[in-house]
Amino acid sequence: MTRPVLEVVDLVKHFGAVRAVDGVSLAVAPGEVLGLVGESGSGKTTLGRCATRLVAVTSGHVRINGTDIAKLSRRQLRPLRRHFNMVFQDPSSSLNPRMTVADIVSEPLRLHRIGTGASRRSRVNHLLDQVGLPAGVGRRYPHELSGGQRQRVSLARALSAGPALLVADEPTSALDVSVQASVLNLIGRLQSDLGFACLFVTHDLASVEFLAQRVAVMYLGVLVEVAARRELFATPRHPYTQALLSAAPIPDPPAQRTRRRIVLTGDIPSPVDPPAGCRFHTRCPVAVDECRVVVPPLRPVGPAGALVACHLVADDGTGPRLG
Ligand SMILES: Nc1ncnc2c1ncn2[C@@H]1O[C@H](COP(=O)(O)OP(=O)(O)OP(=O)(O)O)[C@@H](O)[C@H]1O
Ligand SMILES: [Mg+2]
Repeated sequence: MTRPVLEVVDLVKHFGAVRAVDGVSLAVAPGEVLGLVGESGSGKTTLGRCATRLVAVTSGHVRINGTDIAKLSRRQLRPLRRHFNMVFQDPSSSLNPRMTVADIVSEPLRLHRIGTGASRRSRVNHLLDQVGLPAGVGRRYPHELSGGQRQRVSLARALSAGPALLVADEPTSALDVSVQASVLNLIGRLQSDLGFACLFVTHDLASVEFLAQRVAVMYLGVLVEVAARRELFATPRHPYTQALLSAAPIPDPPAQRTRRRIVLTGDIPSPVDPPAGCRFHTRCPVAVDECRVVVPPLRPVGPAGALVACHLVADDGTGPRLG
């Protein structure tokens, strides 16, 4: 395999007693989109913020193009920041209200001393065009724009220094439903035109199916399944993945009627005191004694190299089918 753009190894992030991320390893290849899904509170945002070092890491490695940024100081990180960036759910909070759009988009170029004044201006115009905004928007302020336009500005800013990695954390979920699809399409087009690797965090399985080549499923601070998109949607193996997919609306009404929804009982347990053994065992309809005691490792199963952390899934990938 070519060297990953992002490689996270045994990543742990605790906020005091809260074990938000508790030993996650994953890699994103050049030009690949890895979707990261899981219930609210499973640690997706925390993982994304660790991968871009917006928060300090408790332990583990975060390699970007081979350089471990997990323990670097602010000063050591600064020059490396052009290689990775993050876009957030709410574009308003990430855009400086006192700066014009052009200044916002060119800020990373100035910080990293990329180009001259003139070349930055032409780069900003090009970026605004790439994200589907008219050049005149450069003179406006964030509050003069719609939510969808603001998210386009955050994308232009995140991509202006030409990063190898973009972490997108629910980039469409705060937008009006009517503009979500166009922003999602835009991200897909930018990604295939510019070729950056992307860790795409979302609740929305439909957008993962649209954008991601691979999908990682997170539960209470750990990964329970990682597989190619097609394989994950066709053959979800971990009981939690099966439950997650069964809860998503599907566009085909007859299939919706015949499909059985797997209802998980109980809330997601507290990350302060996660269950022993398999973290999912307290809600798993098929758990056995071993699941309550032994932590299941994330291991390759089946013919296509899916990774699953479940004692009940055999090495050939067969296992419990719920619903
Ligand atoms: N700064 C913080 N201080 C303390 N606890 C935090 C902090 N940030 C996150 N957490 C806790 O860490 C856990 C994981 O939160 P995180 O926001 O990463 O989950 P998430 O999967 O992104 O959820 P959502 O889908 O709701 O965005 C939660 O229990 C959350 O309360
Ligand atoms: Mg989140």
